[in-house]
Amino acid sequence: MTHQIAVIPGDGIGQEVTPAAVDVLEALSPDFEFVEGDAGDAVKAETGEALPQDTRDIAANSDATLFGAAGETAADVILPLRDVVGSFANVRPAVSYPGLDAVQPDTDIVFIRENTEGVYSGIESEIADGVTTLTRVVTEDASRDIAEFGFDYAAANGYDDVTVAHKANVMRETDGLFLETAEAVAEGRDAAYDTALMDALAMHLVMHPEEYGVVICPNLAGDMLSDLAAGLVGGLGLLPSANVGSENALFEPVHGSAPDIAGKGIANPSAMILSAAMLLDHLGYGDEADRVRAAVEGVLDEGPRTPDLGGDATTSDVTEAVIDRL
Ligand code: NAI
Ligand code: MG
Repeated sequence: MTHQIAVIPGDGIGQEVTPAAVDVLEALSPDFEFVEGDAGDAVKAETGEALPQDTRDIAANSDATLFGAAGETAADVILPLRDVVGSFANVRPAVSYPGLDAVQPDTDIVFIRENTEGVYSGIESEIADGVTTLTRVVTEDASRDIAEFGFDYAAANGYDDVTVAHKANVMRETDGLFLETAEAVAEGRDAAYDTALMDALAMHLVMHPEEYGVVICPNLAGDMLSDLAAGLVGGLGLLPSANVGSENALFEPVHGSAPDIAGKGIANPSAMILSAAMLLDHLGYGDEADRVRAAVEGVLDEGPRTPDLGGDATTSDVTEAVIDRL
């Protein structure tokens, strides 16, 4: 069966790493048909819209979407795109690889981030001159969905440690509900878990990442803690992610458009290629996904490496080395 894949490179290094991931997918020759869409700062400058209706339709009508990164318009692009594919869970693995000089070489953590509400609900206003507010939305339904997804993910992928991150001692209503709902889900299935205050958790993750497996987080906490974990394993060039919905999904690196290195051809394509591996898993190509991960691991270990990892290789050197290993 042919799968249609929406490809949305976006801005900055999104234009460089997305074609790299498509080249890797094409080298595996699964039965994919790629359809490209525009999004981000460049298309907004041209048309006034950061996420044209055409691109929304392409994502909605595809079996999965590969997204690179947007620049300043990121919130106008990625939040609605996650909506278009109905994704409620953002899966962000942070894994240290052999051969890299990581701050914490023994890290294997998957952040399961609530993807629809919290402080990213978009309900902000300026209520008076110099006074602004933001409404933090937390619902029982979304909290239950993310907790169930997180415990299912841990069981399916062999993670024994599940941690629920929260700040219910201060945000008593919103994180109180998040925590209480996650605890009810865990108890309903007799699953072992810990809870952790998210600020203290940030410190523990830096000092003892090996003690953590799956971390279930409210939206903003998941965004921040996963970037923190990126720093532990070698940087943002390494972290892939999946935005999973009940019927559709979008795959993107955790990083943004990286304007400081865009256009130089030196972006690390690993995060994007590993996101493509998550896409392969999602569409049932588990063996191909494992082959891609093994090829990326081999290249990370033996080179060539891009400058963010201390090397002097280009995006295409790394991509070709991954394809050679396939
Ligand atoms: P960023 O992730 O683009 O870059 C942070 C740092 O990591 C930079 O020094 C960059 O060079 C480095 N980096 C990131 N990815 C890399 C890669 N693949 N290879 C080598 N080095 C890499 O985050 P920043 O600088 O905070 O944001 C830049 C722009 O990206 C902003 O306009 C922001 O709005 C947007 N952004 C978009 C996101 C999205 O589209 N999902 C997510 C995060 C930021
Ligand atoms: Mg982020």
